[in-house]
Amino acid sequence: MKLFSTCTIGAVKLQNRIVMAPMTRSRATNNLPNSLMVEYYSQRSGAGLIITEGTSPSPNGLGYARIPGAFSAEQTAGWKQIADAVHRGGARIFMQLMHCGRVGNNLNLPAGAELVAPSAITLANKIWTDSQGEQPYDQPREMTPKDIEQAIAEYALAAKNAVAAGLDGVEVHGANGYLINQFLDPGSNQRRDAYGGDAARRNRFALDVAAAVIAEIGADRVGIRLSPYGVFNEMSGDYDGIAEQYVALAAAAGGLGLAYLHLVDHSAMGAPKPEPATVQAICQAFRAAGGAAVILSGGYDAARAEADLQSGAADLIAFGRPFIANPDLVARLQSGKELAVPDQATFYSPGEAGYTDYPGMP
Ligand SMILES: Cc1cc2nc3c(=O)[nH]c(=O)nc-3n(C[C@H](O)[C@H](O)[C@H](O)COP(=O)(O)O)c2cc1C
Repeated sequence: MKLFSTCTIGAVKLQNRIVMAPMTRSRATNNLPNSLMVEYYSQRSGAGLIITEGTSPSPNGLGYARIPGAFSAEQTAGWKQIADAVHRGGARIFMQLMHCGRVGNNLNLPAGAELVAPSAITLANKIWTDSQGEQPYDQPREMTPKDIEQAIAEYALAAKNAVAAGLDGVEVHGANGYLINQFLDPGSNQRRDAYGGDAARRNRFALDVAAAVIAEIGADRVGIRLSPYGVFNEMSGDYDGIAEQYVALAAAAGGLGLAYLHLVDHSAMGAPKPEPATVQAICQAFRAAGGAAVILSGGYDAARAEADLQSGAADLIAFGRPFIANPDLVARLQSGKELAVPDQATFYSPGEAGYTDYPGMP
């Protein structure tokens, strides 16, 4: 099967085409990668590529409890342990750079940090805090041009730190309603400056971040994740001009020579299905402009993964939830063994339960 064949994306050779999708697991106490995380990622190093959980390039981006950062020397040292362990298992590893933007509560932030976003629009509903349980989202401060410049520099520095820690590259998280997606979406971005207004201006932050990261570590070590039609974190879903906006974004990203475009489809989790013709056009625009590989994700099993590889729709397939309860997912897919089902109650809870205690195949 093609799924189990080696391949190269950008600068990186992979032992198979199975990607572990980025998954926030909230075990990074004090925003530091730790030995429990080393064990977790190391158990899953049969993957071709591991994309880490969302990792903040900035203290301001740590909106959730216990997510890791990539902006301090101590964090970089922690990531080095993870990269080394994953490499020993044969996988390659990219860090997902996730700045939460408005998705957060001040109680989750370290001292001196603040929630920032393209516009000062507060999310409805609630978010978990370790000190006071469920709390409303806090209002973000609208970013000034200087804040934007600073955030772009933070992404670049985090990418530099990731590579210094021995990771193979980074994935710019432009999906699922976090900071970059907040700039892309006309609902969360009400700016009227160079970073808001028409689609080209709303695309600019994503592309400026990608360019800054590329300048630091090279395009062949950088991917981008996008979720057109997504509604998570109050993104607008389908809106006027969305197809044209994402096709233009994919073309511009491809023109930067990115190693991959990673598309999200959360219809298996109850979200609307991204328009298939648009998804195809986005992938085509990315490749035609010089982008290297396409990763598709969302609700895959081995058969559908193989079909999308064979048709050329994707070069690699990312699996999320299956990797949680099946640390040796690649071997299980290869043997056709039934997959274990993950326990949602421990997706984000601290400690090893539901994290490192899922057994491999006997
Ligand atoms: C517990 C959990 C945490 C997640 N965290 C992230 C994240 O940090 N960044 C991201 O881009 N997607 C995140 N996702 C989405 C997954 O990467 C993936 O797109 C989704 O689970 C659908 O794939 P699946 O059907 O194979 O699980 C998360 C999903 C789960 C279940």
